Amino acid sequence: MRQAGRSLPEYKAVRGEGSINQAIADPERATEITLQPVRRYGVDAAILFSDIVTAVHAIGFGIDIKPGVGPVAEKPITSTDDLARLRPLEPEQDIPYVLETVRNLVGELDVPLIGFAGAPFTVASYLIEGGPSKNKAKTKSMMLDAPDLFAAVLDRLADQAIATLTAQVENGASAIQLFDSWAGCLSPSMYERFVMPASAKIFEAVESLGVPRIHFGINTGELLTRFRDAGADVVGIDWLVPLDVARERLGPDAILQGNLDPVICLSEWPSVAAAVREVLASNGGHPGHIFNLGHGVLPEINPDILKQVVELVHAEGHLVGAS
Ligand code: CP3
Repeated sequence: MRQAGRSLPEYKAVRGEGSINQAIADPERATEITLQPVRRYGVDAAILFSDIVTAVHAIGFGIDIKPGVGPVAEKPITSTDDLARLRPLEPEQDIPYVLETVRNLVGELDVPLIGFAGAPFTVASYLIEGGPSKNKAKTKSMMLDAPDLFAAVLDRLADQAIATLTAQVENGASAIQLFDSWAGCLSPSMYERFVMPASAKIFEAVESLGVPRIHFGINTGELLTRFRDAGADVVGIDWLVPLDVARERLGPDAILQGNLDPVICLSEWPSVAAAVREVLASNGGHPGHIFNLGHGVLPEINPDILKQVVELVHAEGHLVGAS
């Protein structure tokens, strides 16, 4: 998950000061940062070091990622005139460094590389609010009061996501993940009406690439079936919905990713171990499970605890429910 490296001293050493965008734009550094958690933890897949706003940043929209804050846009989208600032992404010209990082990684990794993009709604929320926001008030207002503009913003962001995901897979990524982190702030009907078409467009466009497609957000208990119906092969589950409950909603064959509460990783090991075993038990030995945190790694988490989590999952993950 996001920021696996953030709690690592070796990440802090290589990351450097300044905007994270500079580290992303430097393939040598981005390659090393992607490899660090894989080396330290022995996880079964790597996630590309990049960000959900890398594409909009690269086309010159005017967005930066402020440390401790998140993505901040100088001039938020307020009218149709702003659509011109969301020109199409041309991966080879606009983000050659991301593609070089992907190629470097595929050459070095023994495990699959997961490429990713931000989902249109979650990226749009930063562009419309101007930064992180609690209730996404401006975004919801635009949805309801200027639906054509909102749909046009999401459609342009969908095309950017298709372009970056396709290029990442063409350069060697083995799976893709669409992060709609904040879609859980929407009711099912708002999600279906205003957001799902743009995400579905992405999943449909990348289907022919033939790689697994993962769809993730938090607070999505009521949206899980829509997250699947948007076209995902794997649905990310946060820690609020037990995996067995998710399979009651999605069907017994559902492939799930999740869902240890990252905050629990701040506790003593016995409590963390119990929580890991609870996740495994609620999966019940189902083969369609990618163990993961239910959201990103917090910077305060002790890397030794995460190492123990990985070891425990490797030791016991396949045992639970096996007869
Ligand atoms: O684990 C990884 O490093 C993989 C690469 C990755 C990053 N961001 C790097 C990053 C991934 C997959 C993301 C996705 C991302 N970015 C999401 C979706 C996933 C989720 O957690 O919901 C979102 C919402 C963002 C936007 C974003 N970028 C936020 C909210 C922040 C936190 C700001 C802060 O400092 O608290 C970022 C910064 C960011 N992106 C960091 C990393 C490693 C933080 C550390 C740094 O600035 O060096």
